[in-house]
Amino acid sequence: MQGVFITGTNTGVGKTHIGAAIAHMLHNQGVKVIPRKPIESGCPMVDGELIPRDAQALKEAACYEGSLSQVCPYRFEPPISPVRAAHLANKVLTTEQLVSNCLTDSENGFVLVEGAGGFYSPLSEDGLNADLATALQLPVLLVAEDALGVLNQVLLNVEAIKIRGLTLVGVVLNQLREEQDPRMDNAADLREHLDCPVFSVGHQSEGFARLPDALIERVLTQHDRRRVARIVG
Ligand SMILES: Nc1ncnc2c1ncn2[C@@H]1O[C@H](COP(=O)(O)OP(=O)(O)OP(=O)(O)O)[C@@H](O)[C@H]1O
Ligand SMILES: [Mg+2]
Repeated sequence: MQGVFITGTNTGVGKTHIGAAIAHMLHNQGVKVIPRKPIESGCPMVDGELIPRDAQALKEAACYEGSLSQVCPYRFEPPISPVRAAHLANKVLTTEQLVSNCLTDSENGFVLVEGAGGFYSPLSEDGLNADLATALQLPVLLVAEDALGVLNQVLLNVEAIKIRGLTLVGVVLNQLREEQDPRMDNAADLREHLDCPVFSVGHQSEGFARLPDALIERVLTQHDRRRVARIVG
């Protein structure tokens, strides 16, 4: 399965902002993108339906023709941990159910999955985001806020991703806030410690994030490398 699993160092760091921009760019390059946000909490109720805003943003960015229910079947209203939100709705969800939502045997394309929260955030009754990524065997893209403290957060997450044996597409340092201390250079500092690419994305409140071309190339080539590795191995 060709695709990417987008995770973050935390909730609200820009997974959807970056994921939607990737989906949009891939679509513009003629790639069929299949977006998946298997579980989403914090969904507002509109005309009697819970609306998963992240799933909606990914679906629109990808110009995906499937339904919103295919993108996100499990939706909850409270803006809390998805597992707790599911419990409050008397639902018990397993990683297997989330995996089947992401497996798209009937559709051929590039599967772009956004987790919820961070890599070790629980996502189902029996698993974390990390377990879904592992079950899907998708390369992982780590999004982090480009701010003080990010070096520690990224290095911890990278270790966790590597322990799982997953391919790390790279790290995206996302500038959430408008102002930043110009003396800070987290990308350079991280490159001292990492052997994967580190991409910087600037602050931008309107439209799709402007992504470096190298990020899209990397997202597209990871799958091919994995295939080659498997064939050679
Ligand atoms: N580079 C940026 N410049 C300006 N605003 C940004 C940027 N990145 C993200 N944002 C804004 O920050 C907020 C959080 O971003 P986003 O929803 O993408 O995070 P997330 O990691 O997907 O959160 P969640 O854990 O809820 O899924 C959103 O309002 C988004 O528009
Ligand atoms: Mg999101």
